[in-house]
Amino acid sequence: MNRRLTTSAAVACGIAMFALTNAPSSHADDAKMTTLERVKATAKGELKNPISISPEIIDEGKTLYQQKTCSACHGADGRGIHCPSVVNDAWVYGGDDDTLFRLIALGSEDLGKGGYSRGDKEIIAGPMPGFGEAIQDETDLWKIIAYIRSVSAAK
Ligand code: HEC
Repeated sequence: MNRRLTTSAAVACGIAMFALTNAPSSHADDAKMTTLERVKATAKGELKNPISISPEIIDEGKTLYQQKTCSACHGADGRGIHCPSVVNDAWVYGGDDDTLFRLIALGSEDLGKGGYSRGDKEIIAGPMPGFGEAIQDETDLWKIIAYIRSVSAAK
């Protein structure tokens, strides 16, 4: 590819990115917070998925699940390598939006400090690290949860 072509491809890509990042949001985007701000600002049990789930959202969640390295421990297909499966019918701490969002944002140790406790359904391989810093965009975290629900037998 010559330099001219490469440049125009890069420009086209830039325009596409601009269009994507400026696309109007499909829901009322009231006062966005980072993932960790949201966790801190919301009372126990009150976190709820605000985005409407579509096949596109689930697809984006699947890409993020790989990109944010969830697959390194839970497996590309979610069956778990040395960590719990996210596709079987058991949830370690609970399968509601609030518990899953907090677990992934804070990690299992900090989740436990907040008064959430694990059941005894799955083998503990160790703590789950928190991803609140790595996934600052709370919408991205809801997309990952949407993807996990789409492949989980527990929903
Ligand atoms: C370093 C390994 C590791 C990484 C990376 C990791 N996890 Fe985990 N995850 C764990 C462990 C260990 C547990 C179980 C914690 C426990 O039982 O206390 C767990 C538990 C979970 C659970 C609960 C599973 C169930 O059956 O209830 C979910 C959901 C989850 N992780 C999602 C994610 C997501 C999403 C990511 C990426 C953003 C991720 N994990 C990255 C190790 C990891």
